[in-house]
Amino acid sequence: MPPDLTAEPIYRAVLESYQRCENSEGFFDTFYVIFFTKSPEIPPRFAETDMEMQKQIIGASLLWMLRLGRGDLIAVQEVEKIGESHSRQGHSIPPYLYSLWLDALCNAIEHHDPEYTPELESQWRVIMEEGIELIVSRY
Ligand code: HEM
Repeated sequence: MPPDLTAEPIYRAVLESYQRCENSEGFFDTFYVIFFTKSPEIPPRFAETDMEMQKQIIGASLLWMLRLGRGDLIAVQEVEKIGESHSRQGHSIPPYLYSLWLDALCNAIEHHDPEYTPELESQWRVIMEEGIELIVSRY
């Protein structure tokens, strides 16, 4: 069972930041606009994608990533599923693209969270890296 981080300030800080971002207008639009500029490899991978749908799905998956730290077994299963779908047998996403994904996410948070600080960004990175590690381990 993963450790329960719920009581830790870092978990609460990131969850509250997520809620401020989600409540702001166009957070996921900003995320994908920025993500697409991070590498010419990225936009073609979404050429056939319904981006409106994708923006809704990514919000849900960010919450699963956050819940990993709570020792939530359903969250572990959900993030493992993302690992399977992004593996060589699926979307085939090479591990180095995840750091661009995380940079884009942090850039979008900086734009949309009025309480953004570099320290908060580091906390986001710590929490998201746990999920990214799990996803990449399925590559
Ligand atoms: C931790 C980071 C990421 C999370 C949480 C995430 C999450 C998701 C989810 C939930 C889906 C839809 C369901 C599925 O196909 O599994 C998806 C689809 C997809 N993701 Fe990711 N993803 C991440 C990183 C990336 C990266 C780095 C790329 C690289 C370009 C990428 C490319 C794609 C593509 C191409 C699809 C399929 C879109 C379609 O259905 O046409 N993802 N992702």
